[in-house]
Amino acid sequence: MIRKTMMKRSAAVCATGALALAAFAVWAQSAAQPAGAAVSPVPTPSVAASAVSAAGGQASAANDPQAQLVRQGEYLARAADCAACHTAPKGKPFAGGLPIASPIGTIYSTNITPDKDTGIGSYSLEDFDKAVRHGIARNGSTLYPAMPYTSYAKVRPADVKALYAYFMHGVQPVAQANKATDIPWPMSMRWPLSLWRKMFAPPVVGDAASTDNDPVSRGRYLVEGLGHCSACHTPRGFALQEKALTDDSTVFLSGGVVDNFLAKNLRGDPTDGLGNWSEGDIVAFLKGGRNDHSAAFGGMSDVVQHSTQHMNDDDLAAVAKYLKTLRPVDPNARALAYDETAARALRAGSDRSNGALTFIDNCAACHRSTGKGYTQTFPTLALSSTVNSADPTSLIHIVLRGAQMPSTRSAPTYYAMPGFDDRLTDQDVADVLTFVRTSWGNKAPAVTAAQVAKVRKEVGAAPQPQR
Ligand code: HEC
Ligand code: HEC
Ligand code: HEC
Repeated sequence: MIRKTMMKRSAAVCATGALALAAFAVWAQSAAQPAGAAVSPVPTPSVAASAVSAAGGQASAANDPQAQLVRQGEYLARAADCAACHTAPKGKPFAGGLPIASPIGTIYSTNITPDKDTGIGSYSLEDFDKAVRHGIARNGSTLYPAMPYTSYAKVRPADVKALYAYFMHGVQPVAQANKATDIPWPMSMRWPLSLWRKMFAPPVVGDAASTDNDPVSRGRYLVEGLGHCSACHTPRGFALQEKALTDDSTVFLSGGVVDNFLAKNLRGDPTDGLGNWSEGDIVAFLKGGRNDHSAAFGGMSDVVQHSTQHMNDDDLAAVAKYLKTLRPVDPNARALAYDETAARALRAGSDRSNGALTFIDNCAACHRSTGKGYTQTFPTLALSSTVNSADPTSLIHIVLRGAQMPSTRSAPTYYAMPGFDDRLTDQDVADVLTFVRTSWGNKAPAVTAAQVAKVRKEVGAAPQPQR
């Protein structure tokens, strides 16, 4: 039943060509990481511990300050999900080489293990800080913003120091040469990236900014900085810069499309945001990958698996508290209410529309004629913020290619949804999704066959069946 969908990481890549006077930007889509690969690229604590003892001698002592710093750095590296991009599928942890494809060519993440020749083993703390927070490589050239330094600029120096300690002493060195981009000249010139950086990168923060004893401030710090949540959840502007980097604007975390999934609105909107989620619901989702409202899929499945499930309860509660402070994009939107009509019509067999019949034949076994599914197993479609998002990209994608929840420590059993690309035509998918989006109290715009055809092509799904 479980299909291996191809999971992708995304990145913004921007370049101003010497030949083009105007800014030239590309939303780059990265390459492929099989979703089904259950192996976590994140090194286990024992790796960290053994490397610590190799470096420091008596590191097993729990109160050794250096060992503690390394452990803290390991925790922060998970919260920042450095492994997501710096570990290639089946590759050694942090050895880089993940291809990130863009229309102008492929770039590769780099080796950030402490190997002296091919990794960052000879980097000073300043070199490391320059790369991570300023987006400047040791040779002075600017990094592609695929590396989310515009978020990491918000990480405080003390935490950068802990990250540095971890990467120097808690990660196994791996000798693996970096791959050069295959972007052709003149697009490969990096100086235009520094213009982009000067225009869009925020100033880096100092240590004075710490207000971590206030949960909302701690949550903001984690979300804006290490978590780089806005890299996916904030819409992009003309040069593919994030339209907002802080919650001064309601654009921040209001939703963006990444790898043909909608990284949806995380603001307080009651229909398509987190307005109806309690803090506990948010924590359960980030920790276990599911809750009574939804289950993680697409890029978020990876985020939960490799990053948020490893965060401690205080930090998850802080993230939830902070997200709940975000004002809705639409202050006038009202919460939806469940409506029995569709469930009754399905049971009576009185709705003979293609949408209703397609739903009965293909979806109702799991999501039920009530649309309420089975809690924590088959997510509810009724009143779901995912279903009621204006942009249907995620819905089309998931129906065509299926999806698989993450397996987490708190919820190891995961469930998968099959893909219907070879069974349903574009019109069928449009009809069934339009049915779902207008039943049980849901209120979202219809989906068209043209929208389905576009996503079908972009996600590499099977061609529609011939009837
Ligand atoms: C969303 C993907 C992504 C994430 C997350 C990410 N990186 Fe990167 N990083 C990249 C890419 C891609 C490059 C190479 C950019 C280039 O070649 O211009 C890079 C480059 C770097 C470099 C520069 C290496 C060099 O050779 O100078 C360092 C250091 C680095 N990353 C560290 C980190 C750390 C530490 C974290 C976590 C705190 C992290 N990265 C998270 C994508 C990412
Ligand atoms: C690599 C891209 C990516 C990053 C980084 C990311 N997300 Fe997501 N997120 C998504 C996508 C795609 C979805 C939609 C799929 C789903 O609901 O699971 C999503 C969904 C969610 C949802 C479910 C919302 C709902 O109403 O169903 C929450 C909550 C969430 N993300 C929180 C976060 C937080 C907090 C962070 C930062 C710690 C974060 N995300 C970082 C891509 C991302
Ligand atoms: C075998 C059971 C099964 C069938 C049949 C099935 N689904 Fe699903 N569906 C799931 C599971 C499991 C998930 C959660 C996947 C994840 O989180 O990765 C899901 C998730 C979804 C979601 C996202 C909900 C959310 O908020 O996370 C939508 C929308 C959806 N299904 C629609 C459909 C439609 C439409 C059909 C029929 C064309 C269908 N499903 C058929 C099991 C099923």
